[in-house]
Amino acid sequence: MPALAAPPPIRTSAATPPPTPPRTPPRHHPPSDQVVRDAIADISHIATLPEVTMRIIELVEDPNATAEDLNKVISHDPALGARILKVVNSAFYGLPGQIGSLNRAIVLLGLNAVKNIAIAASLAKLFKGGQVCNGFDARDLWTHCVATATASRMLVQRLKLPLRDEAFLAGLIHDIGIMVEVQAVREGFVEAIEAMRADPSLSLREAEAAWLGADHEQFGMGVCRLWKFPTAFVNVTGQHHHPWNLPSESRQLASIVYVAQCLSSRCGHSITMGTEPMQPRVDVLDELGLTEADLDELATSLPAAVEEAEAVMSMGGG
Ligand SMILES: [Fe+2]
Ligand SMILES: [Fe+2]
Repeated sequence: MPALAAPPPIRTSAATPPPTPPRTPPRHHPPSDQVVRDAIADISHIATLPEVTMRIIELVEDPNATAEDLNKVISHDPALGARILKVVNSAFYGLPGQIGSLNRAIVLLGLNAVKNIAIAASLAKLFKGGQVCNGFDARDLWTHCVATATASRMLVQRLKLPLRDEAFLAGLIHDIGIMVEVQAVREGFVEAIEAMRADPSLSLREAEAAWLGADHEQFGMGVCRLWKFPTAFVNVTGQHHHPWNLPSESRQLASIVYVAQCLSSRCGHSITMGTEPMQPRVDVLDELGLTEADLDELATSLPAAVEEAEAVMSMGGG
């Protein structure tokens, strides 16, 4: 078996004060589905998905939608239109010459691809807030999500699956539940992170469950349902740490994102304190048709691809 890349250093800064002694988590929580419902009800006042993104998602679900419809929706947000063209013109797509209009992009890439690119390009705004507390910075989460999205896209290309942009979007939103926590139940989230700093054996999901009464997969699923994302994306946000819990016919995308997280973690892009494992389960790799050699090769080319994707998806410029 080929040797794994060296694990990334644990992120701690010299200026970080020592963790506070562990506190006891609140003993009683309402049932997790109620915790999620309450948080989601709150978030609808705090940070809703941009209107334009909601309308693009509606179009994704409508089999009769045309290029004209998509154009009309995006024309309300010129900054988004510009960002989509930036993505389309990035090295990744390798299209001949510069594409100057959305219509041309749709002709070359297809309506569905451009819809997925449009949603991805409109999501960066949700990952705001910078450093939330010692041990968690929303920018690290954004980088982790862009890295996971990039790795997901590389994986489906390696597997020759026609899911390139769907996989990218899935990777981008897989940890969206964490942003729900940051925005709706921030105090408890900060306590969960503090508990993890004090006790590194605690996983993020264990800490979330103890301090918040639900974990980021549950919050992520809740918000994806609210946003009427397709079921495949609900499965990704809800099961990306254990895709094997899904029925075999509906776990492909979640499995890809699960492996992609391991790859981004190998390249030093884990959320905080090495939350994601670096080694995916062998049965998941087998089911997808991936080998260790595939992973080693992808891990080598991932850092440059992440850098490119980050530049393209940067939060500046609308
Ligand atoms: Fe993740
Ligand atoms: Fe996660």
